[in-house]
Amino acid sequence: MPKKTIHDLGELRGKRVLVRVDFNVPMDESGNVTNERRIVAALPTLKHLLDVGAALVVMSHLGQPEGDPTAADFLQKNSRLSMKRVAERFRERLGRPVHLAPGVVGPAVQQVVQRLQPGEVLLLENLRFHPGEKSKNAEFAQELASYADAYVNDAFGTCHRSDASMVAVPNAARGKPRVVGLLVAKELEILNTLLTNPPRPMLGILGGAKVSDKVGFIRSLLSRVDRVLIGGAMSYLFLKAQGKGIGSSFCETKAKEGQKTPLEMAQEILELGKGKIILPIDHLVVKDLKDSSTATVVEGEIPDGFAGVDIGLKTIALYQDEINKAATVVWNGPMGKFEDEPYSKGTRAVAEALANAKATTVVGGGETAEAVEEFGLAEKMTHVSTGGGAFLEYVEGTPFKALAEIDDK
Ligand code: ADP
Ligand code: 3PG
Ligand code: MG
Repeated sequence: MPKKTIHDLGELRGKRVLVRVDFNVPMDESGNVTNERRIVAALPTLKHLLDVGAALVVMSHLGQPEGDPTAADFLQKNSRLSMKRVAERFRERLGRPVHLAPGVVGPAVQQVVQRLQPGEVLLLENLRFHPGEKSKNAEFAQELASYADAYVNDAFGTCHRSDASMVAVPNAARGKPRVVGLLVAKELEILNTLLTNPPRPMLGILGGAKVSDKVGFIRSLLSRVDRVLIGGAMSYLFLKAQGKGIGSSFCETKAKEGQKTPLEMAQEILELGKGKIILPIDHLVVKDLKDSSTATVVEGEIPDGFAGVDIGLKTIALYQDEINKAATVVWNGPMGKFEDEPYSKGTRAVAEALANAKATTVVGGGETAEAVEEFGLAEKMTHVSTGGGAFLEYVEGTPFKALAEIDDK
């Protein structure tokens, strides 16, 4: 059932709107924001609401604060995760003043909320600074819901979580309008088309580190696509499952509690994807990960003493060819250790092939989206999802509690 959006909110002049965004942006060790994509992605919703005369209370989590949130030194220990730096970038990008609240909830925050004027923006502190966010506390949710006349979920990247701000807050706001923002609406529209009626042939491209993180996604993808190309570190597990030598390449070995071993998972997936899965035929390998001058290309098996860091040139050509034949391409997971420039060729070549393809191209996953951005190719894709886990789980078919709390059209 399609969800109501901010366009269904009616007259907002003089009203306050509570907007849950996903400003969980990557930061470097000194706390500088290294990628603003998620901030930029929420701007259309926020600008629209401000343009029609609303005052905004904006809220997000940032990172995963450590320790017991009720402990006295919790805030001090996690001060790096304050929304302060995010507020600065948000202010610049929005081109309007943004007040940073003196906390998440409480009397001091309530006072600032009460004084908000139409067109003003208040950003609450990191939601995870309050124990109620993770414990899904009803009183905490009730207070947040009381801050506004309407609730907007524009946090696609967090839609797979059931934290208070995602589920209990809209639940507590029942009776008031509860809608999705333009970003969530767009993500859902594109992913729903992908899941229900994609132009064919449809190609999946899989890469990244671990198979165990993505089994559900891989199985779901295999049932939908006509072909799957595999690259990245996960390809070595599949090659090993076929009995091939992989040298000292990264390879998952440990089973998570109650799960099959990664090797068993890979064997099952290979069986399930018979006739659909294509694995790399050559590899860029190194003797020493830290010394790219030891890099060389090998075909077939990877000899002992070498570790795979990227797909090889023949694989690149093969994958480009497959991309050119597709009408829809879904891509998750880098083809190699792309953060190191000498090992980024395969990921870059796949990104370029997608950018130049006539196909509908959808990219998802934290590192994959980062790679595409870094190459300056994001604008050339049909869609680059702001979701990491949310993207994988939505494609897998997991129903999101957060969306169940939003009013149907
Ligand atoms: P995403 O966040 O897009 O879903 P993943 O988290 O699964 O992607 O994996 C991304 C990581 O996998 C990257 O940091 C990349 O360096 C790493 N990776 C990919 N291929 C290799 C490889 N051959 N050796 C080591 N690391 C790799
Ligand atoms: C993400 O980056 O995937 C979302 O912001 C959710 O963050 P979390 O994994 O810390 O819940
Ligand atoms: Mg990742």
